[in-house]
Amino acid sequence: MSKPFYLTTAIDYANGAPHLGHAYEKVLADTIVRFHRMNGEKTYFLTGLDEHGQKVQQNAQKMGISPQECCDRVAELFQGICRELEISNDAYIRTTQPHHIKVVQEILQKLYEAGEIYKADYKGFYSIRQEQFVLEKDRGPDGKWPELFGEVIEITESNYFFRLAKYQAWLRKYLDEHPGFIFPDFRQKNVVEFLKEPISDLCISRPKERLSWGIELPFDKNFVTYVWFDALTNYYSGAIENACWPADIHVIGKDILVPPHSVYWPIMLHAAGLELPKKIVVHGWWLSAGRKVSKTKTAADDNAPAEKTAIELMRELGADAFRYFVMREMNVGQDSEYSEALFMTRYKSDLANDLGNMVNRVLNMTGNYCGHVLPAPAIDEDIEKNLRALWEKTARHYHALAAEFQFHTALDVLWNFVRELNRYANDRAPWKLAKSADPADRARLETSLATMAEGLRLVAVAVTPVMPGIAAKIQKLFGATPAEKFAGAQTWSTTLTGNTFGDKAILFPRPQ
Ligand code: ME8
Ligand code: MG
Repeated sequence: MSKPFYLTTAIDYANGAPHLGHAYEKVLADTIVRFHRMNGEKTYFLTGLDEHGQKVQQNAQKMGISPQECCDRVAELFQGICRELEISNDAYIRTTQPHHIKVVQEILQKLYEAGEIYKADYKGFYSIRQEQFVLEKDRGPDGKWPELFGEVIEITESNYFFRLAKYQAWLRKYLDEHPGFIFPDFRQKNVVEFLKEPISDLCISRPKERLSWGIELPFDKNFVTYVWFDALTNYYSGAIENACWPADIHVIGKDILVPPHSVYWPIMLHAAGLELPKKIVVHGWWLSAGRKVSKTKTAADDNAPAEKTAIELMRELGADAFRYFVMREMNVGQDSEYSEALFMTRYKSDLANDLGNMVNRVLNMTGNYCGHVLPAPAIDEDIEKNLRALWEKTARHYHALAAEFQFHTALDVLWNFVRELNRYANDRAPWKLAKSADPADRARLETSLATMAEGLRLVAVAVTPVMPGIAAKIQKLFGATPAEKFAGAQTWSTTLTGNTFGDKAILFPRPQ
C-alpha cells in the first residue's frame, strides 16, 4: 500500500492565544492537503502544540498554575481555532503525550549509544532573570548586557551535546543535490549561506534545577532535553503509528527555518538513520502596521487605532472569508500586511460582489424564469464558446499555480473568470431576453442560465480547498452533491441540467 501524502505544520508554543500567524499557517497547510485529497491522494495531516520549555514553565508560574494545566488551557484555544477554521487535520499532537515522550527518549538513547551525543562542560554567560545563557552578540555596543537580562554571570555547566558539526559537510552536499528541498528557492540559498560558516555542536540538555518542564534524558535523569530536540521530533512521533514517514511537506514560518528546521532536524534524522522530509514550505510573516503580528502586545499595539483583528473578522464573517482573504492576499514566502480595511475590501469586492451576487443572479433568474429548474443549454454561440475556452485555460492555469504554492495568483486567475461570468450575464442580459416573444431569445435565455450555473459550479469545485464551506453551499443551492474530487468535475458539462435550484441565499453576510 502506498504511503499517504503526509503534511505537517509547526507546533505552536503553548504560551499564549492563537493569532493571525498561527491561523494562517493552518489554513495554508489545510489548503495544500485539501488539493492533494481532491486530486485523489490519500493524505495524513498533523498539527499540534509545543508544550515543554522555559517559556511555558515561566508562563504557568506567572499564572499560578501547573505547566500541564496551562498547556491544557492553551490546547483548548488552539484546537478550538482549528475547528473554527475548518482545518481538516487527522491528528493533533501534544508533546506531553506519552507516546511522543517515548519516541523522543528512544531517539536520544539511540544517538547516545551511537556516540552522537557526548557530555562536556559548557562555559558561558548566564542571565539569572531570563534563566538562559546569553551570547557575546547579545551585548550592547557599549559592551554591557541589555537591561532585560538583569544580572549576568559567567558559569560553567555540564551538559550533553549532539554532534552537529561533523555533519555540516554532509548537509551542504545534501542541499546541493536537492534543489527545491526548501520552498521558496531563496530560503534554501539562505541556508547554504548559513552553512558556509562553521557550525558548532548543539547543547541538547538542560539541568533539571534550571528547567524541570521537559522530557528527561533516558541516560541521565538529572537533565531534560532541549525543547527544539523534543519539538522537532513531533513530526516523526506523530507519524510512525500511521507509517507515514517521511513527511512530504513541513509547513513552517520563516523565523524557524534556520537553524532548527534546516540544520538541526535534517542532521538529527540523518544521524538516527531516518529519511529526511521531502520538502519544507516556508511562509513569511503577517505584519500589522509593518510589524510582525505576535503574542507579545506592546504599548504601541494598545495605542493603535481600534481595529478588528483578523480572528475577530473570521468570527463575524465566517471561516471561508478568512481563508479566502489570507490565501488571496499572501504570496507564500513573502510577508504580507494585514489591516481590517484590506480584509473588508477583499470581502466586499471579491466575495460579496463578484461571487455572491453572481450566485444570487442565477438563483433569482432560475426561479423567476424557469420555476427553479435549470434548463438545458439550447444553443451555442460565440459568446458561450469563448467562455468555455476561457474556463479551460483558467482551470489549467489555476491547478498548475496551486501545485507551485502560488495560491494568490491561482485565485486571481479564478476570479478573473468569475468576473467574466458577470460580464457574460450583462452581455446576455437574460432579464431582457425574458421579455421577448421570439423563441430564439427564449433559447438564449435558457442557454445563458445553464452557462452561468455551470461556470459557477466549476468555480465552486475549484475553490473547494480554499473555501470548503461556501463551495459546498453553492453546489447544494444548485441541487448538486458537492464534489469530493477534481477528477471529472473540472470539465465543462451539463450535469446541472434539470436540477431544482434553491432560493436566493446570503453567502456573504453584511458586516455588523
Ligand atoms: O515557533 N505571521 O511556535 P510559535 C506568520 N513552537 N506566521 C507566524 C507569525 C506571523 N506573524 N507568528 C508566528 C514555534 N507564526 C515553535 C515551533 S515546530 C517543531 C516548533 C508562525 O507559536 C511561526 O513562524 O512561536 C511558526 O511557524 C508558527 O506560527 C508557530 O509559532
Ligand atoms: Mg514564535
